[in-house]
Amino acid sequence: MPLKNCQIINLPKISDPRGNLSFIEGGQHVPFDIQRVYYLYDVPGGSDRGSHAHKTLHQFIVAMSGSFDVVLDDGKEKKRFHLNRPYNGLYVYPMMWRDLDNFSSGAVCMVLASSHYSEDDYIRDYSQFLSLANKS
Ligand code: TYD
Repeated sequence: MPLKNCQIINLPKISDPRGNLSFIEGGQHVPFDIQRVYYLYDVPGGSDRGSHAHKTLHQFIVAMSGSFDVVLDDGKEKKRFHLNRPYNGLYVYPMMWRDLDNFSSGAVCMVLASSHYSEDDYIRDYSQFLSLANKS
């Protein structure tokens, strides 16, 4: 599946002098039902996360605080996305190799996922990813 399916989605933002509010509804603002939420925090400066792909998992990545980059690779091309707003998120289609880097101090990366955790869904070897991605 080409990289162009992976895009920044703008979330609703209810601006309020008491503090802004955004929300995400599964099947409405993200194109899948949300089965799991996880988050990365206390990421030391210079650390990288990711370095894997998922066979079937759909994900939506939001910088809840601070900023970081997500580099997506569909086996043919790569694209770097900078996430730095809690009302924007990146939709990541299955079979995308992803690397997360350039974390700011205090960054919180929240990920909404279409299914529960399963190690069987991971591809952690880049050459295996390339051979699977270029077959499909
Ligand atoms: P991993 O997905 O490799 O981290 P990242 O892509 O953010 O660098 O997960 C790191 C570890 O955490 C791995 O041992 C699996 C475990 N884990 C869970 O148990 N449940 C989860 O929902 C996730 C995302 C990871």
